[in-house]
Amino acid sequence: MPRAAITAVGHYVPEDVYPNSYFESYLDTSDEWIRERTGIRERRFARNGATSDLIVPAARMCLEQRGITPADIDCIIVATVTPDYFFPSTAAVVQRKLGAVNAWGFDLSAACSGFIFALVTAAKLVESGAAKRLLLCGADKMSAITDFQDRSTAVLFGDAGGVVLLEPSEDEQVGVLDYVLYMNGEGGKYLYMPAGGSAKPPSLETVKNREHYVHQEGRTVFKEAVVRMAEVTLEIMQRNGLRAEDIAWLVPHQANLRIITATAERMGLSMEKVMVNIDRYGNTTAATIPLCLSEWYAAGRLDYGDRLILVSFGAGYTWGAVYVRWSLPKPKD
Ligand code: UT7
Repeated sequence: MPRAAITAVGHYVPEDVYPNSYFESYLDTSDEWIRERTGIRERRFARNGATSDLIVPAARMCLEQRGITPADIDCIIVATVTPDYFFPSTAAVVQRKLGAVNAWGFDLSAACSGFIFALVTAAKLVESGAAKRLLLCGADKMSAITDFQDRSTAVLFGDAGGVVLLEPSEDEQVGVLDYVLYMNGEGGKYLYMPAGGSAKPPSLETVKNREHYVHQEGRTVFKEAVVRMAEVTLEIMQRNGLRAEDIAWLVPHQANLRIITATAERMGLSMEKVMVNIDRYGNTTAATIPLCLSEWYAAGRLDYGDRLILVSFGAGYTWGAVYVRWSLPKPKD
């Protein structure tokens, strides 16, 4: 079976930057609290458009990088918790906007672990031959489901899109090499959007009660995330006989700098080998990992054969880690 390799990577963030001082202007919060508790300095919010509009420019970046056209894509997977609509899928919207006329596809919902779960799903499609040029998109317009009056969540999130192109590769050394995925539905009540789904359809009351926004018991989720992120990272390292010095980059979901630091510490990895951009974008849910990959690749900080551990924890609870060896040489200037 061929490996599934990442053959292009792109991202998009909205233009409008909201520094922590924006929240200081109307909420009982401070730049100091936000920086110290989360590591976030600023984030981007899209004033217009939907999640598909965060994906399309990132997808175009991928296609241009690879030198192919939208018609060359045969499958589109979108990981998101902020789909443009309940239906049709955001994948179908992206297909139309891109003009990817030969692609089928679907959305995948696993919150902050969306990209990791979708990467494993996509890799299986590519390895089996069911897809040959698959656009894997992780994107969220979190501002659409953020309660800007709730200081405990408003300061955490941002909007962004990241896309990778997956293709079969005969090179056994590189690509998606291993994964470990978990889910525990008992954690669902600590991080969720209470209304709008079939469990609690929209009504005047749900709107009045602000139930169409993210609700999170931050401290409970934090404690679980610290344990699970470290656990699953160590598990994938052990399964593959990897020591800290073998790893070029840890690519963690960007929910909280303290969770990221704790994970790196447990691995015995210096923070110089950890991708961190939460300070500039906040938590962009399904976009955090591809956004890191794309920025690091564009900056020439990723090279062929680099060993990466991608790791995430999020609503569900869902969590997991993927071992990837990078398949692209550094971009030429
Ligand atoms: O991405 C998916 C998974 N999600 C995560 O991994 C997020 C996990 N959780 C976290 O990152 C952290 O729990 C938060 C950043 C959300 C909160 O940090 P914390 O250190 O866990 O704070 P806390 O919720 O325990 O709150 C501590 C205090 C509380 O005040 P009291 O009760 O001690 O008086 C909060 O009311 O901080 C208060 N607080 C704030 N103060 C200033 C909560 N939000 C704010 C705020 N500004 N924005």
